[in-house]
Amino acid sequence: MKLKIAVLPGDGIGPEVTQQAIKVLNAIAEKYNHTFEYKKAAVGAIAIDETGDPLPDETLQICADSDAILFGAIGDPKYDNNPNAKIRPEQGLLKLRKSLGLYANIRPLTTYDSLIHKSNLKEEVIKGTDFVIYRELTSGIYFGDKQLSNDEKSAVDECKYTTEEIDRIAHLAFKAAKARRKKLTLVDKANVLETSRLWRRRVQEISKSYPNVKLDFLFVDNAAMQIILNPTQFDVILTENMFGDILSDEASVISGSIGLLASASIGKHTALFEPIHGSYPQAKGKNIANPLASVLSVAMLLDHFELYEEAEDIRLAVEKSIELNISTPDINSTNHFSTTNVGNFLRDFILDDENTFYNKNNIDLGQSTII
Ligand code: IPM
Ligand code: MG
Repeated sequence: MKLKIAVLPGDGIGPEVTQQAIKVLNAIAEKYNHTFEYKKAAVGAIAIDETGDPLPDETLQICADSDAILFGAIGDPKYDNNPNAKIRPEQGLLKLRKSLGLYANIRPLTTYDSLIHKSNLKEEVIKGTDFVIYRELTSGIYFGDKQLSNDEKSAVDECKYTTEEIDRIAHLAFKAAKARRKKLTLVDKANVLETSRLWRRRVQEISKSYPNVKLDFLFVDNAAMQIILNPTQFDVILTENMFGDILSDEASVISGSIGLLASASIGKHTALFEPIHGSYPQAKGKNIANPLASVLSVAMLLDHFELYEEAEDIRLAVEKSIELNISTPDINSTNHFSTTNVGNFLRDFILDDENTFYNKNNIDLGQSTII
């Protein structure tokens, strides 16, 4: 298969983790004889520095002309600490999502046997957790009218949803549930918010077309608690934009690190694949960031093009790296490996056959991981 991939490394650790994801993609291309063509483009704080615009027209054009987009991370402390900044890096990502109509953000959550004992949560609580969050991505409070009064004493963020916006992601979530364990949980705040009541009405209506999927509802405050108390109860979680943002960061604790959570954003145009983590500026340039979320996003990219065996190869390599503790400090505090070394291991594992022996000394030296 031939794919044109737009690469938007972005800010902070984005470039470092994206580099490992591309390394892994190249290994897949070599093994399966695919051709992946990359086109790099600027987004975020780095794009503001270069052009004054967090999403230059050229970047948007490159994305629109590609088959898929690989996104790194966005954000910079110089904007986080300055509420008066008129132009912000995040606007680049939001505009990209909106312009490409990427209304469904899919965030799978699994556990890894070899990480479970390291979790802050109890093993018996998290073992076997396997759910996916369908987060609405191009509407709600993120995209409503924003206003600051002239005297700067009041501000408004409007939260608006239309039935069309609810219906299209609800159908995707129901279809996913149908193919999984047939349970869908709508997370909302229908005891308070009108938009949430609209979500409930529409989702109840749509559920009639999916009679085999069991539908239930949770208020978001309760859902935040249930995700930690009893995460195995969930199969597919469907929710609006901001609740999905918050709950997915919370859920990452179950996996062991936010550095493990991948996502796919799909919709009307070119699909985008990105780790759920942010730009982690404290780690920038230190070669310590976990590349697995970006690598697993690439596995979702391959799934999207029905390259299931290739995607599975990546997931196996990731599992193996975790099992062998060839991991970055977020999940391996005592004897950790660098971002680059984790990427090298994954590449070598994919290109080599299964009966390989791993030479830890070589990995430590940053040399070939396989003898
Ligand atoms: C995410 C991020 C973004 C969001 C930020 C960077 C705008 O937190 O993808 O979860 O809030 O959607
Ligand atoms: Mg987030």
